[in-house]
Amino acid sequence: MSEVVSIFVTVGVLAALLAFFLLLQMNRKVNNEGKPTGHKYDGIEELDNPLPAWWYWVFVASIIYGLGYLAYYPGLGNFAGLSGWTSVGQLEEDEQNADERYGPMFAKYMNTPIAELSTLPAANKMGQRIFASNCTVCHGATAKGGFGFPNLTDGEWIWGNDDEQLKSTILNGRMAVMPPWGEVLGDKGVAEVSEYVLQLAGRTDADPALAAEGEKHFGTYCAVCHGPQAKGQTMFGAPNLTNERWLYGNSRLNIQDTVRNGRSGQMPAFEQKLGPEKAHIVAAYVRSLQPGSAK
Ligand code: HEC
Ligand code: HEC
Repeated sequence: MSEVVSIFVTVGVLAALLAFFLLLQMNRKVNNEGKPTGHKYDGIEELDNPLPAWWYWVFVASIIYGLGYLAYYPGLGNFAGLSGWTSVGQLEEDEQNADERYGPMFAKYMNTPIAELSTLPAANKMGQRIFASNCTVCHGATAKGGFGFPNLTDGEWIWGNDDEQLKSTILNGRMAVMPPWGEVLGDKGVAEVSEYVLQLAGRTDADPALAAEGEKHFGTYCAVCHGPQAKGQTMFGAPNLTNERWLYGNSRLNIQDTVRNGRSGQMPAFEQKLGPEKAHIVAAYVRSLQPGSAK
């Protein structure tokens, strides 16, 4: 934080402790001990009594404790505290301890192929935990995804599901590029090719005349990535367009929007955060979520 904020925080914290102490002094001695103060409510009357001694000293002790704490740990603005403790340091220490504890277990699983690992309940339990703390923010607690985030349980793979592809997705991340076609095709072209996409997906509300025009555009502009049959290509992360599974919504407007403006979904790389062993385990967990998997 800036110097000014730091001074503000430091002065504020110390002033609050001092004010607390002064307030205590004021209540330690009273002028009319045992006499009514005049506050009366529901037949209950307040008498003018000092704070009980034990209470006073508990407060004083807590102030001293507070001062000690503020000297030892960071709390007074930019002052780092005498202990040198930081939350990042604590986290790193915890992580290192965990690595030492679980490392051998992870290493053991590293030699088990993903297909086999995905059938082991103990490994899947670990995988589930890794998934919960790293992946659910985007893919959801049940891994069913959402708008722009793929469902990982439907057996449908944009980037492929063999061991290498799956691990590469997790370790290196993926960056999808669906270019925008609005300028190339114009509104009419976007409408036509979108109608063709609807037709590919088996939608009965697709306009056949527009779709026929759209098919030509598709051959020219789209087949390179989505494939001549529009079944997708994992190499480019181009999804299959012939089924009912949509990453960016299935309405006519959603599809036109995708075609006109393009999309670029990004799966972050987890190599740094997880390392190869945990990535291996979470890959097996993802595999275990597929329909027809042994689990
Ligand atoms: C910041 C959000 C985010 C997080 C966190 C995240 N993902 Fe992803 N993931 C994505 C997006 C977006 C895609 C799709 C990229 C695209 O558009 O093709 C994706 C794609 C994938 C795919 C490929 C799906 C396919 O059909 O090929 C897998 C597998 C995957 N993620 C697994 C994971 C795992 C395992 C984790 C946790 C270790 C994780 N993801 C964490 C956003 C995320
Ligand atoms: C350079 C390769 C490339 C070309 C060319 C391309 N696409 Fe795509 N398309 C992609 C990728 C990659 C995605 C996935 C985007 C993402 O995951 O963010 C995608 C996604 C889509 C989607 C969304 C699918 C979903 O599940 O929501 C539609 C629809 C689509 N493309 C249609 C088209 C049409 C129509 C054309 C031709 C006008 C076209 N694409 C040309 C690569 C391409």
